Amino acid sequence: MAGRVRQPLLAANWKMNPLAAADAVELARGVSRAASEHASLVEVALFPPFPWLLPVWDALKGTGVELGAQDCFWERAGAFTGEVSPAMLAGWCAWVIVGHSERRTLFGETDEQVALKAAAAMEAGLSVIVCVGESEAQFAAGHTEHVVSGQLDVALRRLAASGADRLVVAYEPVWAIGTGRNAEPALAHSTMRLVRQRLERAFGPRAASVRVLYGGSVNAANVTAYAQLESCDGSLVGGASLKAEEFSRMIAAVAAASGSPAT
Ligand code: PGA
Repeated sequence: MAGRVRQPLLAANWKMNPLAAADAVELARGVSRAASEHASLVEVALFPPFPWLLPVWDALKGTGVELGAQDCFWERAGAFTGEVSPAMLAGWCAWVIVGHSERRTLFGETDEQVALKAAAAMEAGLSVIVCVGESEAQFAAGHTEHVVSGQLDVALRRLAASGADRLVVAYEPVWAIGTGRNAEPALAHSTMRLVRQRLERAFGPRAASVRVLYGGSVNAANVTAYAQLESCDGSLVGGASLKAEEFSRMIAAVAAASGSPAT
């Protein structure tokens, strides 16, 4: 296979970091140099906390690096204190993440709420990363496939195949997030194949446009192993995306892997 059907995506989930706007801008600038260099081979999107969206948007102008938010609400406007609507984000962002495991576990988000968010974000014209993944206990009990397909199917019921090219599914085993215990590529591969089967069942041939990412302790040392998988169209990166130098090496590594045969 020469090159890939889908362009690889590296998504940088900064979570609730960094603390200062100036540091956010510096990180964005640091990453954008490598991203611009490899723009034809890998798409890069940064997901800062809400207050840093505007300064980072400004810093990214003309670089080709895309911007996204880490969450959104499903309503368009109204009396929803503390919430941010996808329509508000659409002025600044190309992307939004929904259903990250930290939202699900720390803030009690349900599959149905994640589905509503994904549908509203699509409706607002955003590209959407829907996160799915099993907990440590579910993994240990052998329930990964059941949990992941259940989470995904609820989201897919509210999404139309016509939005497939703006949909990304990130498979992130909860036990691999922020732990340094990344899922073995072969293990991640089998779950990402399952994700693609569910996408095909829901969207038919349009599923070919949906990208599937792996996330969970991805860093410069292991990113190539995922990028080489036929089932994997890139990574959602947390901790390692806060280091401009390391994340830049990851962009270069994914660009290099995108031209080599998939395994
Ligand atoms: P991590 O986080 O790379 O720090 O494991 C990934 C994520 O939460 O998206």
